[in-house]
Amino acid sequence: MKKLISVASLTAAMSALSISASQASADELVLYCSVDENWCRVMSEAFQRETGINVLMTRRSSGETYAQIRAESGQPRGDVWWGGTGDPHLQAAQEGLTARYESPRLGELQDWAVRQAEASDYRTVGIYAGGLGYGYNTRLVRGDAPACWSDLLDERFRDDVQVANPNSSGTAYTMLATLVQLFGEDKAFDFMRELNANISQYTQSGSAPIRAAATGETAVGIVFMHDAVAQAVQGAPIATVAPCEGTGYEIGSMSLIDGGPNPDNAKIWYDWALSAEAQALAVQANSFQVPSNSGAPTPPEAPRLEDVKLIDYDFERYGSSEVRTRLLQRWDREIGSL
Ligand code: G6P
Repeated sequence: MKKLISVASLTAAMSALSISASQASADELVLYCSVDENWCRVMSEAFQRETGINVLMTRRSSGETYAQIRAESGQPRGDVWWGGTGDPHLQAAQEGLTARYESPRLGELQDWAVRQAEASDYRTVGIYAGGLGYGYNTRLVRGDAPACWSDLLDERFRDDVQVANPNSSGTAYTMLATLVQLFGEDKAFDFMRELNANISQYTQSGSAPIRAAATGETAVGIVFMHDAVAQAVQGAPIATVAPCEGTGYEIGSMSLIDGGPNPDNAKIWYDWALSAEAQALAVQANSFQVPSNSGAPTPPEAPRLEDVKLIDYDFERYGSSEVRTRLLQRWDREIGSL
């Protein structure tokens, strides 16, 4: 009898559990996140606390997330793609993988963030900006401080530079597109071929190289400057370089996945993530990008883009399906295969 009762109460408890599980699944959001894991977590937890909507978050690099959304387009599983460099967001927009949405918060954003929305017919929007550069370990690099892209070809950096693979990483694609815009396409590929002699590893994630430089595993990591600053702020012996020839930048972006399972919750996230309050959470996660909401504070540690020689990065061109696909294929053929 005792056994029976306990089975009965167990069944009751289980059905209560499954009711709450199905209620929870009705109020959830599937988030594909392409910034650093820590910031993904801070944002997901804050949103969950404020709205009661359960966030199922996966962190993947920008190029990988683009490829995943494309692979799932027959039956989309994700709702929102938050963060990561703008080029693959623009490509997804052009290919109709992401949905049109004009947030009521667009008026609060900086011009560069709104231009990203306009360029994609409102299928993506800017959430932050950051300049590309590199960081080096000041204990490992002696002699003249490197200051230019060309300094990275120096023999003293043999097997001591890391950058990500541009197929998986938006950071590395930003480098590829930046070099093409700075030097012309053929010269940019010559440069990357020469640089290859100094590369010890093409990582999957864009910021991994600077984490490796912080621990002394490599001397130089080619990353967004704010990722190098994040290591220095935590006490690592990392100096940040804005390359002397000039450099490119990203407009970190956000898109709604077309046909995702929770479109209403996706819009709630979208509007919230554009708010000054949500963007101000970045510093808690040790992230020092320039926020797109004009009312959000730019952290004092954020590299001052006004002081950097920035190129006039052509986002429409380098975020187009044709150009991005072609440049990545050329990289695989000429650099990745070396
Ligand atoms: C880091 C940077 C972000 C950037 C992202 C791209 O998280 O802080 O500003 O958007 O990398 O990641 P990926 O792995 O695609 O290069």
